Amino acid sequence: MSEQKQERLVRIGVPSKGRLSELAAQLLADAGLSFRRSDRSLFAKCKDMPVEITFLRTDDIPVLTAEGAIDLGITGADLVAESGAEVVHRLDLGVGSCRLAMCVADDSPVTDPRQLAGKRIATSFPRITRRWLAERGVDAHFVELSGSVEVMIALGVADAIVDLVETGSTLAANRLRIFAEIGRYETVLIQNHRIADPALADRIVRRLEGIVIARSWSLLEYNVPRSRLAEAETITPGFNSPTVMALEDPEWCAVRAMVRRGEAHAIMERLDAIGASAVIETQIANCRL
Ligand code: PRP
Repeated sequence: MSEQKQERLVRIGVPSKGRLSELAAQLLADAGLSFRRSDRSLFAKCKDMPVEITFLRTDDIPVLTAEGAIDLGITGADLVAESGAEVVHRLDLGVGSCRLAMCVADDSPVTDPRQLAGKRIATSFPRITRRWLAERGVDAHFVELSGSVEVMIALGVADAIVDLVETGSTLAANRLRIFAEIGRYETVLIQNHRIADPALADRIVRRLEGIVIARSWSLLEYNVPRSRLAEAETITPGFNSPTVMALEDPEWCAVRAMVRRGEAHAIMERLDAIGASAVIETQIANCRL
């Protein structure tokens, strides 16, 4: 209790609605920072840490972090880049990955950004797009919008658009094609430069990092003949290095290693092929590495 009193309250800004709002709440809860939001309230207190959650518009979070209204913020890296806000990037959160792409109509002859000189480009990302075009010596006319960018070519308002692409279904539905990728982004945790309690912020970052890593790695355990151990270690080098344990049978040993979750099936097949047995994949709930 007395330890908590000495700590200042850290304010974390999270999106107030949408998919990102749910992802952020789940991530914080998994990191032991659960909160309950009452209807329409803009604030919520975390139960077990001196942390206050502030619910904000996702695109306001970069500038509000830079201004110190919040100490930490969860938002899209695309919005951080577009805002130009001076914040500290603390952590990639492993969710919300998307591309920012320059797109034209399916039947457009455009293949090179230089063909867009003097043309109209509709986007919600004018700052990033202008810089990208300037690097290529292209000056275009901008139609700056806050949404529904994908219909602007059909409406006759633009010759090209720059928009976020996740699955590509919005582009397909509007008969558009990507002809240049401008950037790749994901959801990030950002921090104010002059935070009052950096130690508490570091604790929060470490907790979130543990969850982000746990979500993208699995633990693989298996037995393998000692004669094939070197090959097994090449297949599963682990996060740092694999743990190797002796078995009763001196010809065999047991191995434990972290593997990227998305690669687990392929790795298990490769272990099969070198004679490994009792291969078990376990989900990691949390970790500190
Ligand atoms: C975003 C983006 C695209 C769409 C891409 O829009 O602007 O329109 O998602 O996703 P897809 O490649 O999976 O189809 P969002 O739904 O966030 O709303 P907005 O149009 O108001 O920006």
